[in-house]
Amino acid sequence: MPHDTTSPKKGFGSFFSYIDPKSELLADSKNQFNPLNNTLFYNGRHAIKYIVELIQKEKNINTFWLPEYYCQHVTHWLKQNYSNIKTYPVDPKNPDYCIEGNLFLENNDIILVNNFWGISKCNLDYQNDTVSVIEDHSHGWLSESCLNSSADFCVASLRKSVPAPLGGMAWIPNGASLKTIPLEPSPVFESVWNTVLLAMQKKAIFETQKGINDSLKTEFLSLINDAELKMHENYELGAFPEQHKETLKQYLKIDYGDFKQGNYQHLVSLLKGSEHFDLISSTETTFGLTLYFDNLDTMNAFKNHLISQQIYPSLLWPGNPKTYGYYLNIHIDYRYNKSDMTYMSRIINKFKQV
Ligand SMILES: Cc1ncc(COP(=O)(O)O)c(C=O)c1O
Repeated sequence: MPHDTTSPKKGFGSFFSYIDPKSELLADSKNQFNPLNNTLFYNGRHAIKYIVELIQKEKNINTFWLPEYYCQHVTHWLKQNYSNIKTYPVDPKNPDYCIEGNLFLENNDIILVNNFWGISKCNLDYQNDTVSVIEDHSHGWLSESCLNSSADFCVASLRKSVPAPLGGMAWIPNGASLKTIPLEPSPVFESVWNTVLLAMQKKAIFETQKGINDSLKTEFLSLINDAELKMHENYELGAFPEQHKETLKQYLKIDYGDFKQGNYQHLVSLLKGSEHFDLISSTETTFGLTLYFDNLDTMNAFKNHLISQQIYPSLLWPGNPKTYGYYLNIHIDYRYNKSDMTYMSRIINKFKQV
């Protein structure tokens, strides 16, 4: 089928393919945000756990509150670590939503506030000095709320925006240092890093080869699944080695928001409204193009329609309460350009449910 994407294989499997941070595409874009005294980790889950462990050293945590709508892998992983988790209601559609913390927060609770789609204001109403607030900017790395946070702690899974094999960060928004918890090297995570790197390299080869090389595709998908499973099944915090830190820092020099902004504006300007979904929008650029569906069948039909045209969206996130509906994310990051956006808009606008 003829179309104007630069590669019909971009975005296949939502992890990035290998790209050199010094490559022509990335190197010109400069990120100014480097939270003072931040701590780097293998992933976002480690960053969250590290903060919880730090708080736990200071006091007995009462309840650890997570959003009722959240990444189910993370909820599951955290529940394996902590038995005092409860959830509170959110509205992922509404960037101005205010969490009514006064209705449920008690002394010595922790609350994790998620920056949904990179546009949440992370509003939280509470008056209790003993409560610790952790903001999760995994989908809003370099967003307004991330840059201007006043939470007690911030975390981000960097690997959602930054094409390093793995990466997570924790920081205190006023620039104070996080206390140190000594961590042992983690052979499991060192091997996961290498596995993801290999998968990224294979994916890069796959994307540049002519035709579909099914065995290469099977190889990188199997490597990435293996890596994700290992991360999911390992709960021990591991030290993030210097050589990986140096690699991640190279990737952190780039302003990934630059690329998204132009793509987002172009794509949104071309989209017609639809009776089937709502566009989650803001004056800020969202993490990806996020479409909200209240009907599972419609969402699945739309997703299949995109996949049949080589656009690979992801549901953020499966396994949440049905009452929250379904949020489909379409990638618009540095891998894509305006001509890709034009192509995507045509396919999105063409959707008709049968
Ligand atoms: C919102 C959110 N926070 C945190 C995480 C955890 O990040 P990681 O997979 O790097 O541990 C994820 C995804 O897994 C996520 O979607």
